[in-house]
Amino acid sequence: MKILGICGSPRPNKISGTYMLLNLILKSSGCEHELISLSSLKFSGCTACMRCVKDNVCKINDDFTPLREKILDADAYLIGSPNYFSGLTSLMHCFLERWYQFRHQGASLVWGKLAVAAGVGGFGAVPVTEQIEKFMAYSFIKTVDKISMNGNPSCFYCGYGKNCPVGIPALTGVECPDQIPDILANPKVREEAVRVGKDFGALLAKGYNRELTAIEMQEFLMTKLKDV
Ligand SMILES: Cc1cc2nc3c(=O)[nH]c(=O)nc-3n(C[C@H](O)[C@H](O)[C@H](O)COP(=O)(O)O)c2cc1C
Repeated sequence: MKILGICGSPRPNKISGTYMLLNLILKSSGCEHELISLSSLKFSGCTACMRCVKDNVCKINDDFTPLREKILDADAYLIGSPNYFSGLTSLMHCFLERWYQFRHQGASLVWGKLAVAAGVGGFGAVPVTEQIEKFMAYSFIKTVDKISMNGNPSCFYCGYGKNCPVGIPALTGVECPDQIPDILANPKVREEAVRVGKDFGALLAKGYNRELTAIEMQEFLMTKLKDV
């Protein structure tokens, strides 16, 4: 079973808390995996040209194009994004919009697969994981677990610290750390990431019925759409 991990942070991997979290989850799963960062890729969101409707292939030619095969090849997904303004980063939003090509009649290319949603924010990322779950549901993919963790608020390392009257340090009274803190230095984050990875790996190893899962997700999507 192969898991494709996608990191939606625009920051370099070595300082991205999201990337570090996804990496640990994937390693803990015991499954074959690949982790791709969107940070250096240049691609747009869906342009609604509708040219994917007949054959389920997006016709925009950019850095998303080679990812299509990887998405189809994977058995499961780990989708992670930092929390930007209580939602996905624009990178991750554009990436997931392009999954519109998998939604048309007769597609079933990704339907019934499984996913885990991960979010990292300065103060948590629950809206991010909920957004990922909804995006997955549009492709009839079941989100089996969600992990939301606290990372490094940008206001802690912008350089102005408490001198900025509208920054988090001044508003909360929290001191800025000397260095960008490592998200995995927090034992609770490590513990939860390992748990999520192990559970995901065990679930995939056990096997499941993709057709039934796809039907379950069609029903789930209909209930979710009622809240839109
Ligand atoms: C433009 C911008 C908007 C942000 N908005 C939020 C927010 O709404 N809520 C929050 O908790 N953190 C917010 N943050 C903080 C990031 O989510 C946090 O720094 C996260 O750890 C970044 O993940 P990364 O290290 O993988 O890049 C924001 C950061 C940036 C740069």
